[in-house]
Amino acid sequence: MTTAPIQIESTDEESMMLAVVRELVTEKVAPRAAEIDAAGEFPWDVKELFAQNDLLGIPIPAEFGGLGGTFLTYVKVVEEIAKACASSALIVAVQELGMLPIVIGGTDEQKRRFLPKIASGQHLVAYALTEVSSGSDALGSMKTRAERRGDAYVLNGQKIWITNGSVADVVCVFAVTDPAAGSRGVTAFVVEKGTPGFSVGNVEKKMGIRGSPTVELVFEDCEVPAANRLGEEGEGFKIAMKVLDKSRPGIAAQALGIAAGALEYATNYAKERIAFGKPIGQHQGIGFMLADMKTEVEAARLLLYEAARRCDAGAQDVTLWAALAKLKCGDVAMSVTTDAVQVLGGFGYSADYPVERMMRDAKITQIYEGTQQIQRLVIARSLVGRAKT
Ligand code: CAA
Repeated sequence: MTTAPIQIESTDEESMMLAVVRELVTEKVAPRAAEIDAAGEFPWDVKELFAQNDLLGIPIPAEFGGLGGTFLTYVKVVEEIAKACASSALIVAVQELGMLPIVIGGTDEQKRRFLPKIASGQHLVAYALTEVSSGSDALGSMKTRAERRGDAYVLNGQKIWITNGSVADVVCVFAVTDPAAGSRGVTAFVVEKGTPGFSVGNVEKKMGIRGSPTVELVFEDCEVPAANRLGEEGEGFKIAMKVLDKSRPGIAAQALGIAAGALEYATNYAKERIAFGKPIGQHQGIGFMLADMKTEVEAARLLLYEAARRCDAGAQDVTLWAALAKLKCGDVAMSVTTDAVQVLGGFGYSADYPVERMMRDAKITQIYEGTQQIQRLVIARSLVGRAKT
């Protein structure tokens, strides 16, 4: 017997969109997934496909050129794409991550200036928070400086691990404007490609998500108009954190999709591969593995959809729910893909079969947008508060 995955609050509109996405993924994305990984290049054709089908601005309000869709729809779309290709799913997820500082901190004028081109996919966008010595400790060790000079700010410093940084037309950058002010000394800016003093540095060579460029961004006396400052001076760290509350469910969706894709592949394989006279799935050793994988995927999906529903409802506890979803989905992605490789045995270890790529792609979901340890920190603080220093 097969059962359909659980459906939460699928409106007619959402169902129609997901049907289109499934068709695009089956016909255009899945056949490209292995070559995107092997080439290690950004798939511009897939980006165009997503732009033509309005997938790059789902939660952007309609008045600013987006679809005005829900976060729930957005995470389901990311999940569907990630079942076949994690790198392609990241195009949608990072477009969301990069535009959120503008949605959260921007003025109406800034939203009108930047969001329509992002929503249409004419512009790609990236989010630049992390630095060499500031990853998990995003605030404490931030060194990139922004100094006010007349009608502009002059940025100096480097950001690393910036997903899609080399293909982005606009980047939301966080920099210190007042080193003595702690969390209230960070400010957010939109830096446009081609601004003198802004360049792409080292390109990382990675284990997975190889179709998504991860780069260093360098700012050398880079003059950014004050009109590109998001929010007031000192509001940048709070904007950065509020963004992560809404973007972590997107990475959770990518993780869930990877897990669901690996489960589906391993299940089909286990129905066909014969050992000792019957399909391997009917041997208890493999059947029970598949049962555990299925249980984990469905549990993770419930947590994720609830987190997205709370984002849509503007709930007070989205920080907690985003962390719960990211933690569970990331760990499920890693365990389920590892087990999928095991189900396929030697074939699972071969690059000729997709579960090997899925296992490599899964690992990053336990690391970026806050490691699993940071998610636990966020969850623990929401339970018991934090130590006063
Ligand atoms: N919403 C609003 N404000 C928040 C907040 C939130 N979710 N979280 C913290 N703040 C506020 C606090 O209220 C505090 O404000 P005041 O100073 O006014 O009281 C301020 O921010 C500082 O907060 P903390 O003292 O809690 O800060 P901290 O230094 O202890 O760090 C942290 C908190 C949760 C560990 C944070 O540093 C963090 O999330 N670290 C991980 C960073 C991360 O996820 N990086 C990912 C980079 S992006 C990426 O990976 C994308 C990609 O490639 C695809």
